[in-house]
Amino acid sequence: MEPMIPATSPLPLPGPGGLFWTLLVVTFWFHFLSVQMLLGSLIITIAEVVTGKPREQFLEGLKRLPIIMAFVINLGIPPLLFLQLLYAQFFYTSSVIMGIPWIATVFLLIVCYGCLYLARYEKREGRIPVWLFISLVAGLTIAYFFTNNVTLMLHPDVWPEAYRTSPIGAHLYPDTGSVLFRWLWAIAPATTVVAVWLNKSRAWGWVTIALGGLGGFLFQQNLGTQADTAGTMFVIDYVLLAVFAILLVAVRSDRLFHRLAVAWVLIKLALMVAIRDTVRQHALSSYFKYEDLAVQTDLSVIVCFFLVCATGVYILIWMYRRGKEGLTL
Ligand code: HEM
Repeated sequence: MEPMIPATSPLPLPGPGGLFWTLLVVTFWFHFLSVQMLLGSLIITIAEVVTGKPREQFLEGLKRLPIIMAFVINLGIPPLLFLQLLYAQFFYTSSVIMGIPWIATVFLLIVCYGCLYLARYEKREGRIPVWLFISLVAGLTIAYFFTNNVTLMLHPDVWPEAYRTSPIGAHLYPDTGSVLFRWLWAIAPATTVVAVWLNKSRAWGWVTIALGGLGGFLFQQNLGTQADTAGTMFVIDYVLLAVFAILLVAVRSDRLFHRLAVAWVLIKLALMVAIRDTVRQHALSSYFKYEDLAVQTDLSVIVCFFLVCATGVYILIWMYRRGKEGLTL
């Protein structure tokens, strides 16, 4: 069926497309890191409570959770804005086609956030994992809906049929397998990120290796020819997983392991962000390139934007510091 893609907005961008693309990938990297911290902290804290670890041990992760969530949301907004600026006709259409699950993410977010507070201030220890589990399920579902949307936006060929069969937005991307594999790959680093950050057991690294390897391989296979451009990047991704397995087994010194693992996490997440972007650009290349968007540079808008941005970063640092103080309460 002939893809029906809405026309691009006639309004020109107030600066070069490359600037907004850079802001999209950089801000998304921060969102992606905070998402890993949230999901990883939830999984590890639940495991610690359920296995009867002492309260002081799991409280460390528990206290941080509401703060991390604030970062997940605040750091999710910038890439959302830049994504809409560069890929509006794709992202809006996919959001409309999967309108019901897409709107549901707002309610899931409220559940996810609310349960973190319920867990944080729960007096009855037995109930803590219940709140955390509900929060984890909501968080994983949000991630799954995001994966659906960023996949559906790359496939204008499936939009007309989806809209024809149900125009009320009761859709997800029809090839469930490819979304599931991408989702697995996307959330795989979570346990390692938190294990490295909070000095938890190294064994959590194996979860990342297993899920990341399996999810990444199946995600790549499902991409078919779309994976061609990102092929070398996927190979580097597998090599990174192998390097991490060697670190887990061979590095005896905890201090050295920690330093190498921090570097590994930062590189791995950067590579994943680059893979996602390459897949998107390649998939949409026959329809659209963001470089072709009209531009009318307006320096005053750009300067105002960076001033607001600097204020936002300052507020984030302030939130982080206040959050740290809160941890000692
Ligand atoms: C618990 C809350 C959240 C979780 C677990 C989560 C998780 C994720 C994951 C896993 C992805 C990558 C999907 C993929 O590539 O397959 C993603 C993408 C994204 N998220 Fe979030 N997210 C959350 C909340 C938010 C919020 C509140 C916003 C915005 C206000 C947001 C904005 C975005 C955007 C814009 C992308 C796509 C960026 C792009 O494709 O360039 N997220 N999210």
